[in-house]
Amino acid sequence: MHDLVIMGTIVNGRKIIRGSIAIDGGKISKISTGILKGEDVITLKRGQTLLPGLIDVHTHLRDFTEKPKESIRTGTMAAVHGGLTTVFDMPNTKPPIIDVVTFHWREEAFRGRAYSDYALGFLLSGNCGEAQKARADFYKVFMGASTGGIFSEDFEGDYSCAPGVLSVHAEDQATITRRPERPPEAEVLAVKRALNTAEKLKKPLNICHVSTAEGMVEILRAGLPWVSFEVTPHHLFLTMRDYGRNPLLKVYPPLRTERDRAFLWKNFSRVPMIASDHAPHTLEDKESGAAGIPGLETEVALFLDAANRGLIGIHDIVEKMNLNPIRIFGIKNKGLEVGKDADFTIVDLKKEWVVRPEEFYTKAKWSPWEGQKLKGKVVMTIIHGSVVMEDDEIIGKPQGARINVENECS
Ligand code: DOR
Repeated sequence: MHDLVIMGTIVNGRKIIRGSIAIDGGKISKISTGILKGEDVITLKRGQTLLPGLIDVHTHLRDFTEKPKESIRTGTMAAVHGGLTTVFDMPNTKPPIIDVVTFHWREEAFRGRAYSDYALGFLLSGNCGEAQKARADFYKVFMGASTGGIFSEDFEGDYSCAPGVLSVHAEDQATITRRPERPPEAEVLAVKRALNTAEKLKKPLNICHVSTAEGMVEILRAGLPWVSFEVTPHHLFLTMRDYGRNPLLKVYPPLRTERDRAFLWKNFSRVPMIASDHAPHTLEDKESGAAGIPGLETEVALFLDAANRGLIGIHDIVEKMNLNPIRIFGIKNKGLEVGKDADFTIVDLKKEWVVRPEEFYTKAKWSPWEGQKLKGKVVMTIIHGSVVMEDDEIIGKPQGARINVENECS
């Protein structure tokens, strides 16, 4: 008799099966096309589908001195509400995570407060000694300044120092100083420089939130197996024309043209990862020019809606928000396999709903998609075999844990 059995339609890689998953001690103990017996049994309803727990490799959870924008508690509540079982915490916090002491403070801040699992980032900017001692799960570099203002003066030095995967915000500092509207060239120039350095160093690099056709062309043309990249929902679903409709949409890198957006979609099959870049600010800060869009509670649903419209397949979501993040960041304890954490995102592909930011758990109570009707919704989130969200309600205490990654530290 297993602790828990979940029965129903399961997306396993490219395959969709009907079967059961058994969970013991919070881990997957059996995956079967038959019926298994459990102390507890969750039978998925008609129209519901189980996906492996979805992972967002780019979120800004704030906290520290910026709790009015977001806290680890509210940010991870938003994550599980949106169907994310693991989130990557970006280190451009206040104070920034650029030394071991602040990194340990971050570890403490997460302990007992996170509803989802998490990976902790460390910000590299001429602080190699500290980075090597911190034992972070991933590292971050800003080639050009964004929220927090820190950027790398020596990209190659910082990149060669990173003891794990380096996520890079690729916008060229000199270009954005001259042109604060951050034109496409800012991204393209930085992407080219990052790729040249990657070619030389041959170390894992992840290029964040690629927004331009030219930027993506460069990455695809280089074809370096150790270089990955992310695309955000806002660059896939919005363009600069939306600025007129909603002045809150300011974001770095900026929204682009319809041509760029169409290009990202045309090459969607070659995009390794989708990540929200969830970047909450207070309304006051947004009104005085802060850049960033909240995305945790709309991200998965937008792609379910896209699946319903025939733009993508459900396996694309699994590939770009589970399989590839696990592979690229070397996450050891995740995946739909026996022995891995029992993390699942259960969706109802047919459920229609309207985006109402006042019902969000994030402190950023606005959304570019406010009022929009979407078809497809996350109905349940399970982490370590416990239901942490069902029908928009968060259940239980924060029990999120830090992930295990394989890098030079381990
Ligand atoms: O728009 C953005 N907001 N872009 C970033 O690079 C950072 C983020 C934030 O932290 O607010």
